[in-house]
Parts: sequence; structure tokens; C-alpha cells
Amino acid sequence: MQTKQEKLDHINKVMEALCPCQLRKTATQAVYGAGNADADVMFIGEAPGKQEDLKGVPFVGAAGKFLDEMLASINIKRSDVYITNVVKYRPPNNRDPLPQEVADCWPWLQEQINIIKPTLIIPLGRHALERFVPGRKISEDHGKAFRRTIDGCGTYVFYALYHPAAALYNGSLRETLIADFARIPALLKKIKNDTKHALN
Ligand code: URA
Repeated sequence: MQTKQEKLDHINKVMEALCPCQLRKTATQAVYGAGNADADVMFIGEAPGKQEDLKGVPFVGAAGKFLDEMLASINIKRSDVYITNVVKYRPPNNRDPLPQEVADCWPWLQEQINIIKPTLIIPLGRHALERFVPGRKISEDHGKAFRRTIDGCGTYVFYALYHPAAALYNGSLRETLIADFARIPALLKKIKNDTKHALN
């Protein structure tokens, strides 16, 4: 039987060949995702930036270093979680991804979720939140958990967080994000507990 990592490696190659996203014309390469295919927690950002586009790895620039620091603060290693983006190619000059680009990359993200089946999905920032929990405001809903059924994926818990890049140089957002991040372990424990009871 294939491991989750083997399935992910396979699907990443297949989706790269099939993805109709126009951003592939300007990007250096696709940024699939990185981390542990058996992860409990999946972080989903917006789109690769310059460093990610050059290296082919998500969250390796300044926002990624901040993400690593926050992970370390809750005793989680980057290799314990899976990190990817809604859009797999860098938008020119880091502009916001267009709805069509999000739609074109969506089957790829669906496949990744369906293989990993994380206990908790953490959308980083408003674009990722909108994809899973539409109509919400990150300024009001950060630090809140939502249970949602996603077409083609099933039901998951989503924990809304500010994007690390938005919080990086903004003192009060930074404090808020660090405080929301600190609640991840307790939330994870609660979801696992709830599931255990629901199954009994
Ligand atoms: N911002 C994102 O949303 N994703 C990355 O991979 C890097 C920066």
C-alpha cells in the first residue's frame, strides 16, 4: 500500500502537469507544499512569494521565519505539520490571487487535503479563510474555530489566523497572532477528544 507521502508525491506531479492556472507562465516553479504527510495540522497560506518561488518551498521568507518561531513556541516542529498554499504559483509582484487562479488551483488543494486528512486545518489570512469559510472577516473571526463541510473534501475544523506577513511588522496584530497561535494545542486536543467521544 502507498504511504500518504507517496500519494502526495504522485498527486503533486499529476496536478502540476494538469493545473490550468495562468500564473504558471510567470512563476519560476510550482510550490507544492512541504512537511509531514501524516500531519494532524495543515497550514494553508495564500500564495508563494518571491523566496518561495525561487526555492519551491512554502513559507521560507520573512513570514515563514515568523511562522517557524510561532511553531517553536508551541513545541511543534515544521516537520510535524504540513504547509501549503491556496494558489501554487507566485502571482506577479505578490498581488492578490484572482478568483480564477484560486479556482484553477482548487482541485490540487482538495487532493492534498484528501490525502493528508488533517485533524485541524489552519487557513492563514483572509484569502485562505474565504476559500473555506466564506463571508467572514479575519479581523473579527481570527482565533475562532469553524466546523465546515467542504465539497469534495468532507467535514473539517478550520481555525482562522491572521497571515504571518500581515502581522510581522504590526505590533498589535503580532501579539494577537501569537496569542491565537498559543491556543492551537488545546484546540487540537479538544477536537481529538470530541471525535473520540463521538465515535464511542
Ligand atoms: N505567504 C504565503 O501565503 N505563502 C507562502 O508560501 C509565503 C508567503
